[in-house]
Amino acid sequence: MKTKEEPRRRTAVVTGAATGIGAAITERLAGQGMHLVLVARDSARLEAAAERLRAEHGVNVSTLALDLSHQGAPSRLAEWLEDAGTEVDVLVNNAGVSVLGPVAGSDPARVRGLVDLNVGAVAELTALLLPAMVARGRGAIVNIAGTGAYAPAPYLAAYAASKAFVLSFTQAVWAETRRTGVRVVAVSPGPTETPMNTRRMPGKRRPDAVADTVMSALRGRGPAVVDGGLNTFQTFVFGRLLPPSAAARIAGRTLRKAALGK
Ligand SMILES: NC(=O)c1ccc[n+]([C@@H]2O[C@H](COP(=O)([O-])OP(=O)(O)OC[C@H]3O[C@@H](n4cnc5c(N)ncnc54)[C@H](OP(=O)(O)O)[C@@H]3O)[C@@H](O)[C@H]2O)c1
Repeated sequence: MKTKEEPRRRTAVVTGAATGIGAAITERLAGQGMHLVLVARDSARLEAAAERLRAEHGVNVSTLALDLSHQGAPSRLAEWLEDAGTEVDVLVNNAGVSVLGPVAGSDPARVRGLVDLNVGAVAELTALLLPAMVARGRGAIVNIAGTGAYAPAPYLAAYAASKAFVLSFTQAVWAETRRTGVRVVAVSPGPTETPMNTRRMPGKRRPDAVADTVMSALRGRGPAVVDGGLNTFQTFVFGRLLPPSAAARIAGRTLRKAALGK
């Protein structure tokens, strides 16, 4: 008797997957029955997250401890996936770091490391994994930007500029691929309660709310989505209504307080 073939389970690769927004996204993807590959630096934290996801959702979860800001790390991930015979259906470029403070007082190596991770790894991983998706005529890439992408942010200068890159890059790749069957989208959270952002701020969102926005962005059609109504309004005011000089000065007043306490 012929047995009915099980439909192939899809696989998602999520960077920065063990904490904050990345962890919330993995919960949603596993909840849909997707197998997962979790990537970040801290192997113990990754393995604990993997164990939880396997137990709760019965999906396969692999982990790879990797510093994605290091040169060659994105290629190592792509080779590792290929060696394991993993066909990537969804890539979520979520890993990111921020540096708070004036550029004149920042450690130059940390600024460079931020660009290498937030910009370099996102662009390289997209370029590495997109061709197979286009060839198959299906797949999705979600790049996590941030509301900082929409206007300059003093005291978070490199961070906001890195997110502006992510937004612009993703919008362009969206246009290149929109007739290929591959979904490419940038999702921009605003202030969200995670290990990266423990400051007290009004209107802060929870990581699971951002993960819900990511899931609906995957189902949508446009190139970019902002998480939450207030954040959407603010990106419109700061990114569209105000000239960049005014947006930078106004944002600078709030961020100066967070960075310097005055
Ligand atoms: N929280 C916010 O207010 C906010 C607002 C807008 C946008 N975002 C964006 O949301 C994304 C997730 O951030 P989050 O808020 O959830 O903060 P988070 O909990 O600190 O998550 C960042 C993740 O990236 C991983 N990571 C950091 N450096 C890495 C490296 N060099 N190589 C590989 N992985 C690395 C971290 O794990 P390891 O330390 O183990 O490597 C961690 O899991 C980021 O892109 C961030 O810019 C956050």
